[in-house]
This record gives sequence, C-alpha cells and structure tokens, in this order.
Amino acid sequence: MKLPGWWKMLVVAMCMALLACLQAQELQGHVSIILLGATGDLAKKYLWQGLFQLYLDEVGKGYSFSFHGAALTSTKQGQEFIAKVLESLSCPEDMAPGRCAELRGQFQQLSQYRHLRTSEDYMALSKDIEAQLQHKGLQEAGRIFYFSVPPFAYADIARNINSSCRPGPGAWLRVVLEKPFGHDRLSAQQLATELGSFFQEKEMYRVDHYLGKQAVAQILPFRDQNRKALDGLWNRHHVERVEIIMKETVDAEGRTSFYEEYGVIRDVLQNHLTEVLTLVAMELPHNISSSEAVLRHKLQAFRALRGLQKGSAVLGQYQAYSEQVRREQRKPDSFRSLTPTFAGILVHMDNLRWEGVPFLLMSGKALDERVGYVRILFRNQAYCAQNEKRWVADQSQCLPRQIVFYIGHGELGSPAVLVSRNLFRPSLPSKSWKEVEGRPRLHLFGRPLSDYYAYSPVREQDAYSVLISHIFHGRKDSFITTENLLASWVFWTPLLDSLAHEVPRLYPGGAENGHLLDFEFSGTQLRFSQQQLEQLVPGPGSAPKPSDFQVLQAKYRESPLISAWPEELIAKLAEDIEATAVRAVQRFGEFHLALSGGSSPVPLFEQLATRHYGFPWAHTHLWLVDERCVPLRDPESNFQGLQAHLLQHVRVPHYNVHPMPVHLHQRLCAEEDRGAQMYASEISALVTNSSFDLVLLGMGMDGHTASLFPQSPAGLEGTQLVVLTRSPSKPHERMSLSLPLINRAHKVAVLVMGRMKREITMLVSRVGHEPKKWPISGVLPSSGQLVWYMDYEAFLG
Ligand code: BG6
Repeated sequence: MKLPGWWKMLVVAMCMALLACLQAQELQGHVSIILLGATGDLAKKYLWQGLFQLYLDEVGKGYSFSFHGAALTSTKQGQEFIAKVLESLSCPEDMAPGRCAELRGQFQQLSQYRHLRTSEDYMALSKDIEAQLQHKGLQEAGRIFYFSVPPFAYADIARNINSSCRPGPGAWLRVVLEKPFGHDRLSAQQLATELGSFFQEKEMYRVDHYLGKQAVAQILPFRDQNRKALDGLWNRHHVERVEIIMKETVDAEGRTSFYEEYGVIRDVLQNHLTEVLTLVAMELPHNISSSEAVLRHKLQAFRALRGLQKGSAVLGQYQAYSEQVRREQRKPDSFRSLTPTFAGILVHMDNLRWEGVPFLLMSGKALDERVGYVRILFRNQAYCAQNEKRWVADQSQCLPRQIVFYIGHGELGSPAVLVSRNLFRPSLPSKSWKEVEGRPRLHLFGRPLSDYYAYSPVREQDAYSVLISHIFHGRKDSFITTENLLASWVFWTPLLDSLAHEVPRLYPGGAENGHLLDFEFSGTQLRFSQQQLEQLVPGPGSAPKPSDFQVLQAKYRESPLISAWPEELIAKLAEDIEATAVRAVQRFGEFHLALSGGSSPVPLFEQLATRHYGFPWAHTHLWLVDERCVPLRDPESNFQGLQAHLLQHVRVPHYNVHPMPVHLHQRLCAEEDRGAQMYASEISALVTNSSFDLVLLGMGMDGHTASLFPQSPAGLEGTQLVVLTRSPSKPHERMSLSLPLINRAHKVAVLVMGRMKREITMLVSRVGHEPKKWPISGVLPSSGQLVWYMDYEAFLG
C-alpha cells in the first residue's frame, strides 16, 4: 500500500514519540526497597503484601525494582520464611489468575532475603545495589528503608544507613518509621533529635497507618469537594458533637510487654485518633494537596486544643489483663497493673470554629465489637409540627443529621462515608467511591442505611498498601512530621502524667461489659455513667473510704478548718464562695473575688463553671492574687488557667475581669513600667477600702502563699498593695498582692490539696507568726475571717 507523504511523516513522528516515551520510562530509574524486620509480624501480615501491591501498580511504568528483606534471622531461616510469605501474596479480585501468577513470579525473582546486622553488612548491601545497577546499566532513582523493627534498634540502623547506605547523587533516600515514636514528650523529642542527626526531615516517613485507611484519607478530600455545603455547617453553631471511636474485640494477650509500657492512650489515642481529630477540626487549606499547608493547619489545630485534666478521662482495664501480664512477664501473684486498656477522653478546642463542641475520643480492647468511625452529629434546630407519621422518611429536618467516616469493620463491614439524606447529597470521586447497594435491614447510628447517602471504595485497599504507594510517590501529607508528632505529645503528656497512678475501672470483656463503660460528660468533665460503689482493685488495706468521712470541721492555726475528700471539699468551697458572692451582691451590688493560680484551684474553677447556675457572675469582679511574668497567653500564666477553666464558661462582663499588668511596653514586669502600682491603683479605685470580699490562696510546699516567698521580704509588710517578687522556681519573676492587702480582705480561704502538702501542713500548724520564714503564717485578716480548706491527704496524710 502506498501512503501519502504527510501520512508517512506522521507515522515517523508517532514512532519517535513512542520511542522517546519508552526511553523516558527507562530513565525513571531503579528503586531498591529494603524491608528491615522482614520476618516480623507486621511484615508478614501487611508489608510484603503492600510491596507486592506497589509492584502490581507500578510495573511497566518505567521504574525497575529490587526488594531486599532484611532481618537478624539466619540466612537460611530468613529465606525460607520469605519464600513462604511470597507464595501467599494475593492479587486484586479483578486480575486474571494467569496474570497474577506471572507478576507474583516476577516479584519473587526480584525479592531476596539478607542477614543485616553489622556495619559491614550494610556496606555490603550498598555495594550489591551499586553492582546490580552497574551490571544492568540502570540509573538509580532512590532507596526506601522500611523500619519494621522495635524502636531501640532505630539508632544503630539509622547510623549504618547514613554512613554507608545512602544512594548516589541525584537519587533520593526515604526511611519509613513505625510507632512507637517515644513514650512521652521528652522521649519523643530525644528520639526525634537522634533521628534528625542521621536523616533530613524530608527523608523521614513516620507511619500512622490510620492515615492510610480509606475513610480517614477521604476526610480532607471530602471536606474540600463539599466545601459549599459544609461551609456553613462545619462549626460550633451546627455541630453538636464529634465522636472518634476505635473499638476492638481483641485483647493484649501476647503483647503485654509492649502494652504494659504504653497502654491504650499511647497506643491508639495519641496517634491514630489524634490524627483523625486534627483532620476533622483543622481549618481547611485552599490546596489540600500541599503537604506544607496541611501540616501548617494541623499544627494550628494542635495549638487550639484545650489542655486535658484528670477529669477529662475515664479509664478501664479488662479483667483478665493483670493475669496475662503476670503470666507473660513472670510477675508475682500480688502484681496488679494500672495500665488502661480502655479510655474515653473529652477534648475541647479553644477556637472560634469549635468552641464548646465536645470531641469524644474512645478506644478499648476486649470490647463487644470491632469498629472504627468518626461521627459528626449535627444539632437539630428544626421542629416538625406534623405527626411523625407524616415526615418524609429520609428527608425530614427532624431526623438526626450526621456525617460518618466509617473506618471499617462493624455492621457495615467495609469503609464508608455516610451523609444523612436530610443534609445534602455529597460529592465523592466517582472513580474511587461508589454508592453502597441497599441493605434494607441494616441500621447504623440509629437510622436505616437508606437514610444516608452511603459510599464505599470501589476497590478496598489495605492501609499499608496505600501508604507504601504514597511513600513511593513521595506524598508526605499522609505521614507524621516531627513537629506534628511533638505537638501531639505536648498535648497528651500532661494527662498521661496526671493519670499515672489512677486505678482503671475493671470490666469483664466482650458483651458482658454491659453498661459498665458507658460514660457521660458535662462541661469539661467526663465520668462513667454508672457509679461504682466498690473499686474492684482493692487499694491499700486500711485506707479509709470516702463514705467513712463526712466533711470534717475543726480548727487549724486557730481558724476554722474544713476537711473532706477532694471532691466534697471542692464542692463545699464552691458553695461557700457562691454564698459569699450572693451576700455581697445583695448588700453592695458587687462581689470582688481575688483568685490564685496553680493546679489546686483548677477543679474549683471547673466546679464553679459547671455547677453553680445561681452565681452572680454579672456582678462579680475577678482579680488575680498573683501572676507569673509571662505573656497572658502563655500556658504558665495564671490568667490563662483562669481563662481556660472558668472565664470562658461563665459570663463575667469583660470590664470586670482584671488581669495583672505583667506585660507592658512589650516587656515583662519591668520596674519602670510600674505595673504593680497600676494594679494597686485599679484596686483602690474599684474595691471599697481595698478590701476584697474574698481572697483565695494556696500554700506551697515551702510555706509560700500568693507569690510571697520565704526569705524574700517583698510584700510581707509595708504600704505597697501590689509588689514584684522573685520565686525560687521558674518563671522567677512574679507579681503579687502583698500580705497587708490580703489581710484587708473580708474573707480569706486557703485551699490545700494533696499528699505532697502533708509535711508543710504539719509544720505550719506548729509555727507562730513568722511570715519571713513561712509567708502563709502571716495570713490573718485584720477584721475579716480566715478559713482553711484541706483535703484529707493534705491534712491527715
Ligand atoms: C495499632 C495498635 O497501632 O493499631 C494496636 O498498636 C491496634 O493495638 C491496631 O490493635 C489497630 O489497627 P487496625 O488497623 O486493626 O484498626
């Protein structure tokens, strides 16, 4: 056949283009993937399959591969292990069996085991890779080292990779790290610093496999693609609560040595559930595919998290756990673990979008079902005037409205995104998500499935396969950066510290748990719904039970003393403050209350914020007893504590709130700025006689009160009402009401809590008036009343 000239030219051009294209593919280069810990559980269950999936997805797209399974196991055993695992690899359902066998064969050819222990072994590995490249005339694209090893092995491996296994110039290095990334803020920081000395941030891929779960990975794209519908809804005005849940039926048997050290909060909440929380709560970047923007917004969300208190958590432990630990770790019969295997946590965010919206995080082992989900429940602001029978089944505004990212398992059995039909019809990428076929009997979250627009992935993918593909493509947004990791530990560590000695509630496990683990919240407090009269783990033999005591009234330093268990004590003090406030407002029209900072008053603030509806806040002036010389926004600032635990929950007029002016002219507590004098003038101007109606004080372990410290004369006598002082502990610089001013108050309440205060309480009970040694001993209102509030631990030890 004779072709016209232009046609010939076109054919030549096409051939050349095809050739160029093929050459370009050739040029993509060779990737070596080294799986460290290749004979371990994770590798066997997920990672080899993930690597095979990567091969299936990428084969023929221009890259060549080699897979090196490495471990400490002997070469023979390792080879046998790997041969077995490779034999069991599976292909997607829609792949023809012949094609699957062919590709699995290729993958087996490309995979080999090697014993990797010494630095010489690492050098040999690198040499072998280079020799292979040279032999086949391949260009190196990069190397991936997947650390599926315990964290104590990280440093050695990292050192070896850094010193002898980096790829040549122009090729990339990616190291993939598995949790745990530390145990608390400090250890996470240390590990991060250590890793940072070997690898650049861009080279590290810290895995949180929940970010690879399809429903979790869909949160940001869903928010992005449905911006229009969600813009007005995704906020405190419309969201009633957010539930982030991961329930498991398995227990910790076989892993108690790991679990004893970590417990459920470190194992699941600090990472998986926190990541999910940030995806829901963060401000949505304009471009969600920019990993820098996503990270920036995530960090912002971390900054908005309100600090957690002991009362933000409920803890449980399945009954068989301690026995499992005793058995697996050869502990004596008397050993009882305090490690929680169940936790419910109430989180709040202090920002305009989420103020006041409860985020409930919950996870546990040995529960009644395996399921994970994020459920955003919207407030119902509609009232339907017609009888329920006349509501249009799936559209009525009076039916619950919710969006659920169903992570997996549970009744539905697969990942899904559910949107109540009475909200809006969502848009999801039709290539990867399809509508779920009707299952008429299925009810989810109280509604039949037909009430939702429900979508599930076209092809279900395991989280590790998703993440391995992202690592290969250098997509960092699905991984945990150092900043992200540390921000999460900063959030969780104080709670973990405060819960370290907490006795978890025991639960039998499985369906028998009944309602034992149900919990409820009010304000910032979370508690089990069922009160348990007897703790199943007995405390020390002779310790008195709360019911053995009533609120005890006695004398301390010749002034009234009220002593009780902490909860009752706080309740009593809050009651007394309210009564004093009501009386003051009735008589004078206003109430001037000066409050101390620190940790003891926190439960009091929370009590006042959540239980005292009759408190005359509108007529109350709030003053600070003392302040640390830090910006008011600093978490160490007493004002910040007051703001977080009280002010933001009650309606005190702004002009009645009087923070101490420690931050003037952009500097802190400079004498020349005369902040102390300013505060004194404000007090003189607003408080009749400069006599506060009530001053709340604490007592330090060295006998200090307010910010008046032993051996530092400032503020103990004289005419100054407010003084600058110096604390022996950081931050050293302080501002404080003076002792003479405190003693002008109508009433002074001193709150002392905790066993740590026992010694100073005993000592101060015996000393006379010696404010220079023990400033607290100088508190004696000249014409007012002093009342001591001490919990039993401080008073009786
Ligand atoms: C892991 C935890 O990170 O996640 C395990 O260490 C937990 O304790 C597991 O069982 C749950 O993951 P998945 O994918 O089964 O929900």
